[in-house]
Amino acid sequence: MDKYLITGGAGFIGSNLAARVVAASSYVQIVDDLSMGKMENIDYLDKERLTLHKESITNYEFMRELLVHEKFDYIVLLGAVASVADSVENPNKTHQVNQEANINLFETIRKNNLKPKKILFASSAAVYGNNPELPKKESSPIEPLTPYAIDKFASERYALTYGRLYGLPTVATRFFNVYGPKQNPASPYAGVLSIILNCLKENNQFKLYGDGSQKRDFTYVEDVVDAILLLLHNAHLVNDVYNVATGNSVSLNEVIGIFEKRLHQQLKVEKLPERQGDIKFSEADISKITAASFKAKYAISAGLEKYISGE
Ligand code: NAD
Ligand code: UD1
Repeated sequence: MDKYLITGGAGFIGSNLAARVVAASSYVQIVDDLSMGKMENIDYLDKERLTLHKESITNYEFMRELLVHEKFDYIVLLGAVASVADSVENPNKTHQVNQEANINLFETIRKNNLKPKKILFASSAAVYGNNPELPKKESSPIEPLTPYAIDKFASERYALTYGRLYGLPTVATRFFNVYGPKQNPASPYAGVLSIILNCLKENNQFKLYGDGSQKRDFTYVEDVVDAILLLLHNAHLVNDVYNVATGNSVSLNEVIGIFEKRLHQQLKVEKLPERQGDIKFSEADISKITAASFKAKYAISAGLEKYISGE
């Protein structure tokens, strides 16, 4: 039975992935400090197949012992401060988690001669910044605008370089804006679609930063989990980076319109200045992962319908 380690596995993407891996009869261990993740995201899963370590990935001694003792087949690095805005407020703190902890893990694997079948690092579309070239190809210019984006790019390069220099089978994903069930709306730094849905449900005011014309390639979490599993399990997809998205973008104003129409309700909006370091337009070229036989099943309208009706 394959053994998986998912850092950040009690979070949004991680818990959706853990559910799929457990359903496929594999065994999952999660390291999550529950700063954004929640017990309830995973505690319904089969305890025989899932272990949660409530720990920080910055606890190097703990991570070393776990990796050496468990000898995981697949390692998925999702543990991070996922908010771009949070990294602008706390650059040093987020750097410890978003970059240093990952280098420590690669180094532990190298020094102890561990042999996982694949290590996947979750990078981000944020690395492309505001360069006008659209859609973003993996070869497009990199212009990280925030500590978050710098750390994601650096960790992604470390992952691929550990592959080339030391033979670790690594792969990196640049997720665009992921949404769906289990995304935690509780923090002002949470993913925008979870905040909008929560504001509509609670009849709260939504804080709109900028004029709402900013565009994102919103990607349903089920498609993201498909992409992760594809990249983990195909041994030929190695030491390379892949955009994971739908290939189409919509503006925040358009997305708010879809929510309002579907819920027959108007969102109360407070307009605020644009966020520092915010990206204006983000849309992926997905030809590279499509060539590896990935297909996003959910365009924004279908994904939002599933998200709204499932909540
Ligand atoms: P999330 O916040 O739900 O998940 C991240 C998890 O990491 C949380 O459960 C959190 O508690 C945990 N965590 C934070 N600091 C930790 C630490 N020091 N030790 C252990 N665990 C820690 O976010 P998500 O949307 O599920 O994102 C998962 C990954 O994908 C992150 O690396 C994020 O940067 C990346 N990503 C997400 C998106 C997106 O749109 N959601 C897009 C691009 C990349
Ligand atoms: C998101 C992810 C990040 C990922 C990146 C990849 C989260 C929290 N962030 O960043 O991990 O790497 O996609 O593309 O999942 N906004 C509002 N009001 C709000 C919240 C947000 O107007 O209350 C606006 C923001 O200013 C921004 C847009 O909505 O213009 C999207 O914001 P957000 O969901 O935080 O995503 P990104 O910053 O794109």
